[in-house]
Amino acid sequence: MISDYQPTGLPYRERVLLLHKHYDQKKTYHFPMRIDIVTVLPELLESPLNNSIPGRAQKKGLAEIVVHPLRNYTHDKRRTVDDYAFGPDAGMVMKIEPIFECFQELQAQRNYDEIIYTSPDGEPLTQQLANQLSTKKNLLILCGHYKGVDHRVREHLVTREISIGDYVLTGGELAAAVIVDAVVRLIPGVLSDETSALTDSFQDNLLAPPAYTRPAEFNGWKVPEILLSGNFPEIEKWQMQQAIERTQRLRPGLLKEE
Ligand code: ADE
Repeated sequence: MISDYQPTGLPYRERVLLLHKHYDQKKTYHFPMRIDIVTVLPELLESPLNNSIPGRAQKKGLAEIVVHPLRNYTHDKRRTVDDYAFGPDAGMVMKIEPIFECFQELQAQRNYDEIIYTSPDGEPLTQQLANQLSTKKNLLILCGHYKGVDHRVREHLVTREISIGDYVLTGGELAAAVIVDAVVRLIPGVLSDETSALTDSFQDNLLAPPAYTRPAEFNGWKVPEILLSGNFPEIEKWQMQQAIERTQRLRPGLLKEE
């Protein structure tokens, strides 16, 4: 039974194969992955989480994503979530107390597999990391803001720090949306063709081969002959060659990674 399926810990490929046998698109399943996101700007997360794949995952009951406004955990009139940094540097830092109170409330309700802080100095988000996170049941994400967060949050309250790239965003909300999107689309059943996530770029450290659709000729530009041949083994061979060639040309570093 699909409802017996336990997502935690199984490698992605195995989960897909396991679910492939049972998956019924018309049914809603009841083992959602739960993602809680703590932020000072909940509005920024509304659209990316409620549309496209994350929206679909929630509608199908495969993911439950809840946004918690950090200001709800303040007790002063101005609902203060930041304060001046100690020392000579200018800039505001997120205070520890509202974060601590919020985490306490959330952790009283469930155990989190990871408590993630989004930060440009975190570990880089890769497909491998997304795969790994997609096998978890409960994730908690804290969006960084201002000049960062009181470092005690990073020392004592989070288990992981993730960066989505070597550039600085105004806040961690967009980074959180990117992480959630990359993770949620890997939950078996979220994409209509479950195997399609396995052929994404970066799965197996290869870029995806080029894809075409009708018409077979447009403006004199032709679709490669082989794709129209109906010869699936040959098409697969061609796609693999293309994937390797594109990776060598565009992202050679990927081929050296484990
Ligand atoms: N917050 C600001 N910049 C970021 C980045 N590149 N990745 C994750 N969180 C961030």
